Amino acid sequence: METGVADFHVIEPKVKPDGGHSYIDVSRIPLYDEADRVVGLLVTYEDVTEKVLGKQEKAELEAQLRKAEKMEAIGTLAGGVAHDLNNILSGVVSYPQMLLLDLSEEDPFYKPLQNIRKSGERAAAVVHDLLSLARRAVENMESVDSLSTTHSGYEEIPPGDYAVIDVADSGTGINATDLGRIFEPFYTKKKMGRSGTGLGLAVVWGIVKDHRGFIDIRTQKNHGTTFSLYFPKSLV
Ligand SMILES: Nc1ncnc2c1ncn2[C@@H]1O[C@H](COP(=O)(O)OP(=O)(O)O)[C@@H](O)[C@H]1O
Ligand SMILES: [Mg+2]
Repeated sequence: METGVADFHVIEPKVKPDGGHSYIDVSRIPLYDEADRVVGLLVTYEDVTEKVLGKQEKAELEAQLRKAEKMEAIGTLAGGVAHDLNNILSGVVSYPQMLLLDLSEEDPFYKPLQNIRKSGERAAAVVHDLLSLARRAVENMESVDSLSTTHSGYEEIPPGDYAVIDVADSGTGINATDLGRIFEPFYTKKKMGRSGTGLGLAVVWGIVKDHRGFIDIRTQKNHGTTFSLYFPKSLV
């Protein structure tokens, strides 16, 4: 009697009584007689739960890392652009300002110049946010006494001592799709450049990360959102 190669090989997820998953690697190996007829089947079961879960964990960590790198890259790019724009915009604001001083409000150029100045100021506000994103200066950090807590949610928060700042509202909540992107620079559901720049939370993210911190979000549709900012008590 000979054994052939496994012709059937599958990893079957099984739900355990506690609700968790275990994974069984099932192989079916045919057994042949001298005339090459299949006379039996050797079935092996291997519990590969730890292998599978380890892979999933690694994939999740890699995805998290990629996201952090992407944020970092966008931040650097934005900072470079913002620096140049800042200089350019000072002209767009100051020249109309100067001309307006010599014009009466009835002058046909008064309104248009005022609009140019206002637009310049709005652009400067965006650039200001961009610069705080890019600056990411880590100065004057101090350790503080705090509550000891562990919590996981939006990101994995390692156990440790944190000072936690909660910011809560009773608004519309944030849906799952948006939740994955709200910290990206320029991601906004508001009117870009009018009511929102999409930079607010990117700045928050930058500040928290500069302090080696973490963010937890709890949100419920039409009930509100709580952002919890975790700042490690110790700086090492
Ligand atoms: N507390 C909140 N409740 C509901 N949605 C929020 C909240 N904070 C942020 N968001 C969503 O995340 C997006 C990005 O936020 P943000 O970076 O501050 O930019 P902006 O407020 O300029 O749009 C918002 O447009 C909004 O859709
Ligand atoms: Mg905002």
